[in-house]
Amino acid sequence: MSRILVTGAAGFIGSNFVRHLLRARSGAQIVGVDKLTYAGNLESLADCTEDARFRFVRCDICDADAMAPILGDGIEAIVNFAAESHVDRSILGAQEFVRTNVIGVQVLLDLARAHEVNRFLQVSTDEVYGSLGPSGKFTESTPVAPNSPYSASKTAADHLVHAYHHTFGMATLITRCSNNYGPYQFPEKLIPLFITNLLEKNKVPLYGDGMNVRDWIHVQDHCEAILTVLERGTPGQVYNIGGECEIPNIEIARRLLGHLDCDEDMIEYVTDRPGHDRRYAVDISKITKELGWRPRMNFDDGLAETVAWYLANRKWWQRIKTGEYQEYYEKQYGRGGVTVKPE
Ligand code: NAD
Ligand code: TYD
Repeated sequence: MSRILVTGAAGFIGSNFVRHLLRARSGAQIVGVDKLTYAGNLESLADCTEDARFRFVRCDICDADAMAPILGDGIEAIVNFAAESHVDRSILGAQEFVRTNVIGVQVLLDLARAHEVNRFLQVSTDEVYGSLGPSGKFTESTPVAPNSPYSASKTAADHLVHAYHHTFGMATLITRCSNNYGPYQFPEKLIPLFITNLLEKNKVPLYGDGMNVRDWIHVQDHCEAILTVLERGTPGQVYNIGGECEIPNIEIARRLLGHLDCDEDMIEYVTDRPGHDRRYAVDISKITKELGWRPRMNFDDGLAETVAWYLANRKWWQRIKTGEYQEYYEKQYGRGGVTVKPE
């Protein structure tokens, strides 16, 4: 498998995955596709676009006509990261979530089938399982029970992926990962929002009582797990991925205050998210036993590194906050449709 299509390549995890693949597989030829929505940022791929093995194409995964020639160019595997990914935005409006996260996946599956792509990996989320009480963990056989429009759309996609495997025998894989953190995460998600707010001397908005629990994984560990499943996972299977690191939000906030030398009064308790899932925790026995993957990054080290990255890369996130990042693509590559990296 050397010709790989990575969709959502200009997002947080997609850009980290492209970088990982270029480093880890010298023979890889990668096409990165991204619509460059508000969450897509070509500046996150600036170093990768200099590598001759990587080509970027601006394209909407829902646009079958525009995607077909990309698939027709000998693509052997697809890793689909493209999605609307923020729960709070899905509460404000679900339409784009259904469009990209469901219809986009159907379009990609049909194209993958038509072009006889060998492997299709759908990057899903632990949020499809819904919310846990104080004990227990999500396994791959936990029934799906999504609670937000975001997680409902991701669940619908998982059902489609399963159906294409069952009906057409396509070699599909689904990964369901817990909350990621690390470099290049858009500053609307908990950890980068809190770091960048504190760096700008603004308060951090903590929802509800701050006792919601997430299972945190460093994005590099997630990328390594995805590559492992892509290369060695059994077609038709779901693999959970997690950091084995459950932490309540208030604790994350306090650790960040500590890193950035801020007082507890920088926390602002705000109205809770509607339908806020209480706890996520992922059982990773299957991927560990079958494929030998485990997370490697210790959370304290990973968080310290992440804070250091946001300190060292102020320009990257400040250009997001001012909106300038969206001009970068057009200045470099011009406006509009499918644009391939110039030689
Ligand atoms: P992100 O929002 O940072 O990136 C998503 C990317 O998809 C953006 O670059 C965006 O421009 C692109 N995109 C959106 N609509 C598109 C379309 N129609 N066509 C082409 N590109 C489009 O999200 P992320 O955090 O990098 O998440 C990537 C994937 O991983 C998502 O599928 C998400 O559900 C899943 N996931 C994320 C987490 C997490 O903690 N961030 C955890 C588990 C799973
Ligand atoms: P988030 O990063 O949006 O990821 P998800 O909702 O997919 O888990 O949120 C992580 C947790 O942090 C979640 O319990 C909601 C909470 N949260 C806040 O308390 N304040 C915020 O401003 C944000 C964005 C999230």
